[in-house]
Amino acid sequence: MTDRMHLLSFLVHSPINHTAMTWANADDQRIEGLQSFKYWQDIARTLERGKFDGVFFADIPAALDAYRDRIDESVKHGVLWPSQDPMALLSVMASATQHLGLAATLSVAAIPPYIALRTLSTLDYLSRGRIGWNIVTGHLRAEHRALGLEQLEHDERYDRAEEYMAICYGLWNSVDQDALVFDRANGVLIDPSKVRRFEFKGKYFKSTAVSPTLPSPQGRPVLFQAGSSGRGQAFAVKHADVIFGIQPHVSGMKKMMEQVRAAATTGGRTDPVRVSFGIQPVVAGTELEAKRLQKELTERIPDDAGLARVSGTLGVDFSKLDLDQPMSEMDTQASRGLMAALSAVVNDKRMTLREAATRWGASTGMPQIVGAPEQVATEMEAIWRGTGCIGFNVTPTITPSSIDVFVDQVIPILQKRGVFRTDYEGKTFSENLLS
Ligand SMILES: Cc1cc2nc3c(=O)[nH]c(=O)nc-3n(C[C@H](O)[C@H](O)[C@H](O)COP(=O)(O)O)c2cc1C
Repeated sequence: MTDRMHLLSFLVHSPINHTAMTWANADDQRIEGLQSFKYWQDIARTLERGKFDGVFFADIPAALDAYRDRIDESVKHGVLWPSQDPMALLSVMASATQHLGLAATLSVAAIPPYIALRTLSTLDYLSRGRIGWNIVTGHLRAEHRALGLEQLEHDERYDRAEEYMAICYGLWNSVDQDALVFDRANGVLIDPSKVRRFEFKGKYFKSTAVSPTLPSPQGRPVLFQAGSSGRGQAFAVKHADVIFGIQPHVSGMKKMMEQVRAAATTGGRTDPVRVSFGIQPVVAGTELEAKRLQKELTERIPDDAGLARVSGTLGVDFSKLDLDQPMSEMDTQASRGLMAALSAVVNDKRMTLREAATRWGASTGMPQIVGAPEQVATEMEAIWRGTGCIGFNVTPTITPSSIDVFVDQVIPILQKRGVFRTDYEGKTFSENLLS
């Protein structure tokens, strides 16, 4: 646990965040937001007013296609399709703010390391050190099909990602912080002795280059990672400044903290282990109203929408399973971590597969924290203190109204209790988030 809680707004550049069908709510403005810079800039300003550390965009880069082996249900119900690029929003949101960190998920399956690094480092330099990168290995069949790639076996994707990261570090270290001379009189822009070409030849990648940008004040983007299998955690403790986790229950969060700490010890990590857990607050004036809202959000999800969501993410076609049977854990080449999270939901509640799918469709395995602002703040503080996490990826439901409610009603309570900042400590994302 850090001495102050850290908060990231957990967003998706699609018709929904982590609750299927929110777009159908009369107050929701996301569909207009898919065509509006203003919608995202207003959200960024609200989050900065609330002193959030930053935003954190998940990314599902291609239409989910595992349920019934087709895209129809995902498309019909707007389950993460249209699936717009989150990277496009980082400059939009950066240009409306001064302090807010801006992180996006970018799959290493998608583009060569040099190109990914160029985009990330350009944004990082341009925003003076406010960018973060959630490194994912790319687990969706839809993504592999879209890119025309063979789907690599689970652990091999991490081997490939290791090479990817080696190139990124090599490039980030290829230019010194003081390389910029900018001597107009003598015509010297850069000191060439501070710029070194980096060369890498591996099994999956090769690259010979210098970084295409100068280093930002934070040196490189803040790194996040969310792999939660054994291999995924070994990768995460090696590379991530902050590990992102989804665990439906506090017991699972505590267990994950133990696993990550053990992996950090095995991997020889010297940096403190920082974990941020996904949560979904459902806040209203009273507990009763909040419960009503939670029910309304869940009841709006047709079976097909929940099943398209869960099938796509876990890489298992749930239409082939008996939905009224309790679920037992299945192995998957897609996301072992998310599969374990789904099983945890089910094991605790003895849910049928159908119920688990709806629950997943409502919050993607994240615990819902339902109540009046005081109750939500109390529960967040209890989880933060009880698990030793640094804070939370807070996923909104109806947007932007649920973000407004959280910032206006929950944040002041956390601030009053002294567990959340009243002003930014530093200028860069890493100074605020990793302090
Ligand atoms: C909490 C969590 C969030 C994730 N978010 C994304 C995402 O937004 N986009 C994506 O392509 N993969 C995402 N993933 C997939 C992981 O990055 C990883 O590729 C996948 O979980 C397989 O690794 P694992 O078996 O080690 O968990 C997420 C995984 C977890 C556990």
